[in-house]
Amino acid sequence: MDAIDVIVTKRDGRELSREQIDWVIDAYTGGVVADEQMSSLAMAILLNGMNRREIAEWTQAMIRSGARMDWSALPGRTTDKHSTGGVGDKITLPLAPLVAACGGYVPQLSGRGLGHTGGTLDKLESIPGWRALLSNDEMLDVLNKAGAVICAAGDGLAPADKKLYALRDVTGTVESIPLIASSIMSKKIAEGTGALVLDVKVGSGAFMKTVERARELATTMVELGTDAGVNTVALLTAMDRPLGRAVGNALEVTESVEVLAGGGPEDVVELTVRLAREMLQAAGVSGKDPEEALKDGSAMDAWRRMITAQGGDPDALLPKAAETMEITAPSSGVLTRLDAYGVGLAAWRLGAGRERKEDPVSFGAGIMLHAKPGDMVRQGQPLMTLHADETSRFERALAALEGSYTIGESGDRDLLPLVIDR
Ligand code: URA
Repeated sequence: MDAIDVIVTKRDGRELSREQIDWVIDAYTGGVVADEQMSSLAMAILLNGMNRREIAEWTQAMIRSGARMDWSALPGRTTDKHSTGGVGDKITLPLAPLVAACGGYVPQLSGRGLGHTGGTLDKLESIPGWRALLSNDEMLDVLNKAGAVICAAGDGLAPADKKLYALRDVTGTVESIPLIASSIMSKKIAEGTGALVLDVKVGSGAFMKTVERARELATTMVELGTDAGVNTVALLTAMDRPLGRAVGNALEVTESVEVLAGGGPEDVVELTVRLAREMLQAAGVSGKDPEEALKDGSAMDAWRRMITAQGGDPDALLPKAAETMEITAPSSGVLTRLDAYGVGLAAWRLGAGRERKEDPVSFGAGIMLHAKPGDMVRQGQPLMTLHADETSRFERALAALEGSYTIGESGDRDLLPLVIDR
């Protein structure tokens, strides 16, 4: 077998055999298949697709490229959530300790910011002392102490995906449903969770811009999880506007702590509670109700234990950006639209995300939204505050925000429901 044989099969729109899939994933991980060959194959897959069997075998081959984690030593059931990524999507932060407070064990392997979307690890790293890199033994220790752990995937987990994802990122081959589904699910299945809830985002701020594409991705991932013995459920949720009021690393940690304290924005609370119920149900855990755990302080206690067990100080002051700039409403009326992509791009340009993979993020940078779609605003009232370490960043952020909000009549609203489908 050689790489050209595999590339030509897919280029000509034919099915890849199991032998071809196993060989190419193994040979790519081992450096026998070159990056230019794999990028050609990825493009052929993007253009010609893969059927269900091919996607399942591709996913299994990526899982076998590395280690599989095992949580059988824990005294309870594991359950996890994965979001396909969005703007202001800090839900993992309050959700993991909330589910732990209700009796589930949450082994969350998370990622860093990608383009205009934020990353859970970047957010948590704004807490002084907090560590994202843990060994398997340390993960188990945090799970035993707190019931939840949020950390980076080690090099041994689905290494084929790590290599392929970096290649897809620079070859225009990210937006393929078979490749996205196999990438996400290989990591989640290798992570060893017993149950999984997928939060598939839809709208301008998400990978999937339409409900139809999101539904196809969700269905593909649920089938992959179910076939691998992971009880998998997917929700389609709105990402046409940002989630909550905070966008940016430390700003989102502060908002998450507000949710754990029983407050926080309505949409963040609603989605956190809904996903927590789904996670507990998927794992067959019938403990405390999530709303109760937010009210009685037990979710906050689990958060403090989790942060402390990972070296962080839950009482530390979080970094703040040196400069702020207010944007005010140009007219009076109802805020009918606040585009998630525009806000995400502006936060990225303010320094909350990276220009290049190796760049550091600014923990304090981002945007605080003072009005959300549906709110009445008066001319001159603050709409949002931009936060950055240097004033020179404001100009490019303002350009990103141009045309990304509309003030009109109350009847103009055309928002997706927060939870579109299950
Ligand atoms: N997230 C992943 O882990 N993989 C993809 O392909 C896209 C988003």
